[in-house]
Amino acid sequence: MPVPTLPALALATSVPSNTDVLVVGCAALRGAETLVGLPSDLTKAYAKAFGSPLTLALELGASTTAGTTALLPTVAGGPRVLVVGLGNVDVTPEQVRRSVGSALRAVTGLSGRELRVAVSLDAVEPEIVQAAAEGALLGSYTYGKVTSTPKPAVVSSITVLAASVRGPAAEAIEVARVVAAAVCTAREWVNVPANLLYPESFAAEAKAYFRDVRVGVDVRDDKQLDKEGFGGILAVGGGSARKPRLVRVDYAPRGAKLQLVLVGKGITFDSGGLNLKPADGMYTMKCDMAGAAAVLSATKAIAQLGLKVKVVTYAALAENMPSDAAYRPSDVLTMYGGTTVENANSDAEGRLVMADAIARANADAPDLVIDVATLTGACMVALGVRTAGLFASDDETADRILDAAEVAGESFWQLPIPDEARAELDSAVADRRSSGKSRMGGALVAAAFLQSFVAGETPWAHLDIAGPAFNSEAAFHYVPAGGTGFAVRTIVTLAQSLQG
Ligand code: BES
Ligand code: ZN
Ligand code: ZN
Repeated sequence: MPVPTLPALALATSVPSNTDVLVVGCAALRGAETLVGLPSDLTKAYAKAFGSPLTLALELGASTTAGTTALLPTVAGGPRVLVVGLGNVDVTPEQVRRSVGSALRAVTGLSGRELRVAVSLDAVEPEIVQAAAEGALLGSYTYGKVTSTPKPAVVSSITVLAASVRGPAAEAIEVARVVAAAVCTAREWVNVPANLLYPESFAAEAKAYFRDVRVGVDVRDDKQLDKEGFGGILAVGGGSARKPRLVRVDYAPRGAKLQLVLVGKGITFDSGGLNLKPADGMYTMKCDMAGAAAVLSATKAIAQLGLKVKVVTYAALAENMPSDAAYRPSDVLTMYGGTTVENANSDAEGRLVMADAIARANADAPDLVIDVATLTGACMVALGVRTAGLFASDDETADRILDAAEVAGESFWQLPIPDEARAELDSAVADRRSSGKSRMGGALVAAAFLQSFVAGETPWAHLDIAGPAFNSEAAFHYVPAGGTGFAVRTIVTLAQSLQG
């Protein structure tokens, strides 16, 4: 079911004649408000009909403020022109992504169907072309109704204008297409409700998703997991009639030196298990597989772009439900590799499925392990809903991720794993407890738990995306309501930097 269809994306040097909506910018150049990207023939046509197009746009509500939009009346049979604010500071790629995202969301609110959109911002640098294309594709995504009468998408095609349709701009468009498709697939997986996406069906979706790229996909079912001793995944998934799965994807291009291992939390629904969540906290818990969605779709993008880095990706899939077969608080579990864990709280399930997968990943001899998980409410308390927590084995690894995130336009903040967080995991009845006794610093304790399963000196980073993975409020710039696809762009950008 997922893998949403995106608008067709093209590059051109002038506005295609069949354009329905033309997006142009409004920026402050040397302190003066200016229209950016309005072609000269349209500028003349507006001047003839209305006087200065800038004055007209400002009268209709256009401004340099990032994301504001104003629609101009059409002239001379031309397209509808949508003016979007590009911000008052330097126009960075992320600012372009956001503003174009806002513009495309405004377009999806216009009357009409299957609109052909062109984006004209006088883009010269390939980074700006890529950002405009990404913002446009990401901003036009919405999750439709589950219905037998689906409607066609509002935006059918997006043409980004640039000085040339060859060379770096063409490559930038290709990257944007692949990356945006991956982000939107992650969003779609998150948005599909948990009765329709559960471990078995998610694993089947993943298999189908990778059919057209050269990767190996291996799915362990519950029997296989049992044979190999994946005690964490089995315990968490045990309470559900829908049995757990572990998906492993292997991308091994020729000429690659480094091996990246990705691990994603794939709890298709987190009810809390026997430590049942209250109703309000449970409602959005179909999003608890966002880490798995992110690592799977990022892996596809990496393979489609043919990046020269080996990637092994694990998606640990289980549904956390209360039942007579559910694991209990105080149960002692034997994890993959033999470590025993006292289950402190059945709602701390993510770290158990992740620890099993991380322990298995050690056998892949990784140069870097990155795990991605909607792991703790505590991380949201610390950093809010638009910034993810970053934990790492060392500052060099943390900086690599922060650098990639900066380029990708995603917000992370490094948090520590202090010794006292590790000490919280001491157990009287097992090698470790799954969480501390206090709620304080819960994100740090969870990170300490995961780190204890990473072999020796292996560089490791943990991305706690509990906040930014799911937008419970209204859409903003290129981020829709619901699943956001957070972390996909950072992972792909990081993989680009690891090539060679
Ligand atoms: N899936 C939740 C974390 C979460 C909360 C993600 C809100 C997205 C939005 C996780 O499994 C959880 O319930 N964590 C507990 C851990 C506690 C029981 C130690 C938490 O954060 O409260
Ligand atoms: Zn939980
Ligand atoms: Zn969870």
